[in-house]
Amino acid sequence: MNFDSAIHSRDSLVRGARRIAALVLATVLVAGCGGGAGGGGEAAQDQVYLIKFPHVTAPGTPKGQAAQRFKELAEARFPGRVVVEVYPSSQLMNDDDSLEALAFGEIQMIAVSLSKFDRFTHSYQVFDLPFLFPSLEAVEAFQASPAGRATLTEIADRGFLGLAFWHNGMKQLSGPLPLQMPEDADGLKFRIMESDVLQAQVLQIGGSPQKMAYGEVYQALQTGAIDAQENTWSNIYSSKFYEVQPYITESNHGYIGYLVAVNPQFWQSLPDDIRVGLEEVMADVTAWGNARSAEINQQARANIAESGRSEIIELSPEELAAWQEAMRPVWDQFSDDIGADLIDAAIASRP
Ligand code: LMR
Repeated sequence: MNFDSAIHSRDSLVRGARRIAALVLATVLVAGCGGGAGGGGEAAQDQVYLIKFPHVTAPGTPKGQAAQRFKELAEARFPGRVVVEVYPSSQLMNDDDSLEALAFGEIQMIAVSLSKFDRFTHSYQVFDLPFLFPSLEAVEAFQASPAGRATLTEIADRGFLGLAFWHNGMKQLSGPLPLQMPEDADGLKFRIMESDVLQAQVLQIGGSPQKMAYGEVYQALQTGAIDAQENTWSNIYSSKFYEVQPYITESNHGYIGYLVAVNPQFWQSLPDDIRVGLEEVMADVTAWGNARSAEINQQARANIAESGRSEIIELSPEELAAWQEAMRPVWDQFSDDIGADLIDAAIASRP
């Protein structure tokens, strides 16, 4: 496993030492309970398997609800043997830290935006290409296709074994003024996730991209450190961005979805019956959550409209075409990195 980027991205030696100690301890504990890479199998019947599952969104979001349901179904399936602790709303850590913590065995499960795996693979950049996916159905068809399915476990050797893709929804643009045409974004500071594709997208419309953790966005908007952002209805509503962004453009220009991943060594160390059972639970929860995500986002949109705090701007076909045209060069910029085959497979999956 390659820990280089994780180690270099972190600040203090003390923290690094603490994590190495945690890794050593985790290895000792796994060895002590009879697990290990490639193993599973024998384990004491009284062994309790703890799955710490932090994430950054509110409990009512598509991810928040799916994580809670995973906890409930997993614990009901293995009473007293599996405990899932869900920490929503960045309570425990932000996404960047969770990528590192999973690799070091401090936590056992994550559901992090596909956009944030830039430094581990270029494949997931396909999900950030603006206007590539016209709907969640298109994303779902791609993820179920052979090319899409292959990406699920693509970074297992980097420490992230993908168990599922979970949807949030389609992204909207919000700002201090009506973003009716791409020119309206000129000079605005946009918060984006950790993604080079999103950085290029904002540059393409004349904005200034600022990569920032999700938990810092509300305050940055409130204090004017940033002017604008892009996110799903459910995130804009549950994190109250609509209270500090007077205009939201219904652009549906991109997608937010998650890789639900576990540390491969941890997962293989589970007894076979528990590992297989949890994978079945995950499949059920994925179907349940993904089927509800569009509805949760539509409810959030309705709540924002009803609040009167933010004006929702709908685009005419001509305005939408102008946004598509302005952002489209991003595809060519990243097609070599992502692979033209993967982009073609995404296009071919459109319903
Ligand atoms: C963001 O950072 O805007 C999203 O990744 C938050 C999330 O997890 O939906």
